[in-house]
Amino acid sequence: GLVVVGVDIGGTKVLAGVVDDDGTVSATALRTTPGRRGVTRQAEDALAEAVLEAAAGRPLAGVGVAAAGFVDPAGERVMFAPHLPWQGEPLRDLLEQRLGCPVLLDNDANCAARAEAHHGAARGAGSALMITMGTGIGGALLLGDRVLRGANGMAGEFGHMQVVPGGQACECGRSGCWEQYSSGNALVRNARAMMVEQPSVLAEASGGRPERVTGPMVTAAAEQGDLVARQAFAAVGDWLGVGTANLVAALDPELVVVGGGVSAAGDRLLDPARAALRRTLVGAAHRRVPELVAATLGPQAGMIGAALMVR
Ligand code: BGC
Ligand code: NA
Ligand code: ZN
Repeated sequence: GLVVVGVDIGGTKVLAGVVDDDGTVSATALRTTPGRRGVTRQAEDALAEAVLEAAAGRPLAGVGVAAAGFVDPAGERVMFAPHLPWQGEPLRDLLEQRLGCPVLLDNDANCAARAEAHHGAARGAGSALMITMGTGIGGALLLGDRVLRGANGMAGEFGHMQVVPGGQACECGRSGCWEQYSSGNALVRNARAMMVEQPSVLAEASGGRPERVTGPMVTAAAEQGDLVARQAFAAVGDWLGVGTANLVAALDPELVVVGGGVSAAGDRLLDPARAALRRTLVGAAHRRVPELVAATLGPQAGMIGAALMVR
């Protein structure tokens, strides 16, 4: 019969999957994305190909797209995307024409938040903060199962809060953004800088070339007990907690849910974040500090939440 496909497009990859009514994923497909300097058409090809592979010839009832960027309030265009080539791209229409079915579009972290509200860690929470750590940082504020949208549909761009004036240049064109200190990119940058000064299994894994180090390599090295990789996670986790403390000071949510690819590292990332949250949050001794938990749906949350829009 008809299938609903959710597809999540981030800075490095596209993940598509057939998603059932209850949020169960039955078939997935993966593609790489062209990145910020790529061609818009390549990003659209990757999306369409991943969707068609996941559907495997079954007719499409609809497709939900979770995109790593700023989506207009109507859900028609990606206005801006720090890690993708789109600027004002009419993605919904383009994909509807190509796939011949209804397409719904939203920001990736917003989708992840809705998935966690329906089927994951934020179920039943009155309010929750969603933070996704992938290439960059995505965010959303959940009020029950609804995502705060803002005047431009662009609420929740936590990754581009400036945390270090004059700091690291960001793909968004500004500098010192939170995601430059706490994301997959930040993890890799930290590890590359440290591996030239300390012994690390990353030297071998990268053939002695720091520029070849990837996020999954750092995760694997940390699992093997590599100190450089572990320190890279500790630094990124610490920054995660500091930024979260600022958001909690502003919004006082019941719960903080951390998803995205980097969150696969679990407590290696979350423990330093919890410590930094406690240390940094104003009035921590006089309030309930919200629990900081891993997304139940892990890196699939965005894709599952994208499919939810179709239902
Ligand atoms: C983008 C967000 C996106 C996040 C995670 C950020 O750089 O600005 O729109 O949600 O990355 O992919
Ligand atoms: Na968002
Ligand atoms: Zn930025």
